[in-house]
Amino acid sequence: MGANGLLAELAGIGRAGDGYTRLAWDPATMELREWFAGATTALGLELVEDGNGNQVAWWGWGSDALLLGSHLDSVPVGGPLDGPLGVTSALAAVAALQAEGWAPSRPIAVANFTDEEGGRFGIACLGSRLATGAIAPATALALRDADGTTLAEAMAAQGRDPRAAGVAGWLDEVGQFVELHVEQGRSLVHDDSAVGVASAIWPHGRWRFDFCGQGNHAGATAMPDRHDPMLSYAATVLAARELALATGQRATLGRVLVDPGSTNSIPSRVTAWLDARAASEPELERLVAGILDRARAAAEADGTTVELRLESTTGAVRFDEGLRHRLAALLDAPVLPTGAGHDAGILAARLPTAMLFVRNPTGVSHAPEESATAEDIDAGVAALVAVVKEVAGAPTVRA
Ligand code: GLV
Ligand code: MN
Ligand code: MN
Repeated sequence: MGANGLLAELAGIGRAGDGYTRLAWDPATMELREWFAGATTALGLELVEDGNGNQVAWWGWGSDALLLGSHLDSVPVGGPLDGPLGVTSALAAVAALQAEGWAPSRPIAVANFTDEEGGRFGIACLGSRLATGAIAPATALALRDADGTTLAEAMAAQGRDPRAAGVAGWLDEVGQFVELHVEQGRSLVHDDSAVGVASAIWPHGRWRFDFCGQGNHAGATAMPDRHDPMLSYAATVLAARELALATGQRATLGRVLVDPGSTNSIPSRVTAWLDARAASEPELERLVAGILDRARAAAEADGTTVELRLESTTGAVRFDEGLRHRLAALLDAPVLPTGAGHDAGILAARLPTAMLFVRNPTGVSHAPEESATAEDIDAGVAALVAVVKEVAGAPTVRA
C-alpha cells in the first residue's frame, strides 16, 4: 500500500478536535503500536521492540543496516503528518521495493521511535535519547506527566518492564539513518520543490520558570499591595518575544500552569515552560540569559520571585555532509536547515544521518493544519525508494 493509504488507516486514531493527541503510552499510541506491528508483519518484516518502547522492523538482519522511519506520537492537538509521514513513507518504500523484486544488499530497518514529541513527560526524543544513552534511564523513568504518573509507571501499566530501558543493542547494527518528515515551514513551497534535504538542526532546549507571589483576594486587595506572579510571567512572555525578534532567534512560552487557577484569586504561583531555539549554541545561551534577566527584573518590580530550571537541551546538529551531498545530488533537491527537533538529530551524534523533507503548503506544524498533497507524499516515497537503492548498495534483482 502507498503512504497515502497507510495514513488513511491512521486517520481515526487519537482524534482531538480537528487534529490528533497521541501521547506516549496512551491508548492512541498503543493502538498505533498495534497498527505498526500489523503493517510490518504484512510486509514480512521482523519486529523487535527495545526496552524503551522503540519498535524496529527488520527487512533482513545483520550489521550496517540502513534505518528509515520516524515516530507516531504527536504533540497535544497536533497534525496528522509530523511523525506518521516518515513511518508510512518508509513502509511504502519497502513495499514498493519488494513489489519491484528488489532485494537489499544490506538490511533495511523501519523504526517507530517512542515519545519523540515529549508531549507527556516533557522531554522530546525520549526513545532515541534512551536508546543512544543520551539520557540516563533513571532520569527518564522518574519523569512525571501532568497527572503525576511516572514514565516507569506508564510503561509498567502497558506491560513493559521499565528496568529494560536504556542503551539499545540494535543500534550497533545500524550504519545510517534517513528520516523523512513533513516540512515545518514553507521553504519548499518557495523553492517549488516537493522534496528537500536537511542541512542542520538549530540548537534548542526547554526551561521551566517558577514565579511565586502571594495568593490573595481579587476584590479585597488594592492594586499597589499585590505580589502577583502572573504579572512577572506576562512581562517574561513579552521579553522573550522582544529578545528573540531582535536577534532572529525563537522563544516560545506555550504551556502555563496557574496555582490555584481561580478567577477571583490573585495567583500564588505561575509555572511556565520556555522553548528557545537559536542558530548557534552561544546565541541560545545569550537568549535564555537575556530572558532570565528580564524575568528577574519583572519579579523584583512585582515583589515576586522567579526560578529557572533547564529541563532538556539538544545541541546544534549538522547532518553528515557526505550523505547529505549524495542525497541532494541524487534527488536534485534543495538543502535547508530546520528549527525543529527530530530523532535524527539525536542519532546524528552517533552515526551518519540524513533527513528528507516533504513540502507542506500551509507551512504549519504541531497544529491540525499541517499538510502535504497526495502527490507530494508519493514524491517523498519515490525519493526514499531512490535513496534506499543508492545507499543500500547495488540492487540484486531476484530471478
Ligand atoms: C519536535 O518536533 C520539536 O521540535 O520540539
Ligand atoms: Mn514535532
Ligand atoms: Mn517529528
